[in-house]
Amino acid sequence: MNQTNPLPEWTDDLSVNVDTIDEDHQAFFRLAALMYEVASTPNNEQFALIETAINILEEYVEGHFLREQMAMATADYAYMAEHIAAHDAFADRVNRVIQTYRETGDIEHIRALSALVAEWLNSHIRVVDAQYKGILTNANVDDRPLVYMAAGLDTEFAS
Ligand SMILES: [Fe+2]
Repeated sequence: MNQTNPLPEWTDDLSVNVDTIDEDHQAFFRLAALMYEVASTPNNEQFALIETAINILEEYVEGHFLREQMAMATADYAYMAEHIAAHDAFADRVNRVIQTYRETGDIEHIRALSALVAEWLNSHIRVVDAQYKGILTNANVDDRPLVYMAAGLDTEFAS
């Protein structure tokens, strides 16, 4: 990745020992790095690329949080309400930054968005997701691709 990228990146110590969730988290870090790079590289396609990245981010947020929350419900996870509140607060912050970007067209907000995503995720995984380690497992987490999760498709359509 770009050497000037100052954002946190995935490291193995962030693993929650659930393959699909680790893959989701890695995808978020990659997307944050991509958004940072696109926002820092003026060219003719910059605004189109930003729109694409925003759309992907919205799907990732929706699909990934749904995946975690469905697994928490299945596992009757004790801290589910607090966890969902943390997800909702993040989704609100993301939406506010996107809205501000759309209102102003100022690419600085996309750089801020990339930092918000990577930094929030880094601390959320270490502090909040870490609490479900051993409770959410490969066996009780829906392992469909993120796009299926985001589309809210039924399991019968996935295989
Ligand atoms: Fe989470």
